[in-house]
Amino acid sequence: MFNRSAHLYDIIYSFKDYAAEAALILEIVEARHPRAQSLLDVACGTGKHLEHFQERFEIEGLDFNEKLLEIARKRLPNVPLHLGDYTNFSLGRTFDVVTCLFSAIGSAPSVEAMDAAVAAMARHLAPGGLLLVEPWIDPSNWKERMVNTQVVEEPELHVVRMNGSHREGNRTRFEFHYLVGTPDHIEHFTEIHNLILFTREEYNDAFVKAGLSVDFDSRGLIGRGLYIGSK
Ligand SMILES: C[S@@+](CC[C@H](N)C(=O)[O-])C[C@H]1O[C@@H](n2cnc3c(N)ncnc32)[C@H](O)[C@@H]1O
Repeated sequence: MFNRSAHLYDIIYSFKDYAAEAALILEIVEARHPRAQSLLDVACGTGKHLEHFQERFEIEGLDFNEKLLEIARKRLPNVPLHLGDYTNFSLGRTFDVVTCLFSAIGSAPSVEAMDAAVAAMARHLAPGGLLLVEPWIDPSNWKERMVNTQVVEEPELHVVRMNGSHREGNRTRFEFHYLVGTPDHIEHFTEIHNLILFTREEYNDAFVKAGLSVDFDSRGLIGRGLYIGSK
């Protein structure tokens, strides 16, 4: 998914306020499970939420993109960061909190795969633990015919990322065009990202099948909502 652009991930998403998002997660945990001590961030990417979670929790992370994990390892040198697929992983221990943020769950290619991911995350929860999943957009909120552009300018690195988006059934497909310029070279490449528009009912079913009770906070961290499961 981010295979060609992994080295640009933090620059492209520099608009995200990871500290504020981590603080909102912390508020939820303090309200619902104040004795929580350990946290696993699934699909942790470059580790930018974990960087803030480490102030409060004993942390671990998991992602299936080795290049993003390499960046996370430099950011968090003493933190266990696992290479693994969220639909099928087993770390041999449990956590008080498991998070899966920034719509990473939308990359699951089918309802069955999303169910498997929620079940695998739920298996890693200790009794009383919390599973916090930030979903991809609700199908009813999807807007057709969009074009998006992201521009970042650093002294010796300029990046433009432009994409249209298309929906076929419950699948949204993004073709990202990157233009990456340094004083020596300007490069163009494309990357395809597919994300599934799972419904509220499908997310709820996944949590219930995984043996969790579930609430939905419609605002969430950035307006996409947040599923809060309890074991
Ligand atoms: C939009 S990024 C979010 C990364 C990070 N949570 C953040 O907030 O910056 C989506 C992440 O999901 C990861 N991912 C997607 N499918 C996955 C899978 N099946 N197993 C593990 N990680 C996955 C990608 O590698 C990527 O790091």
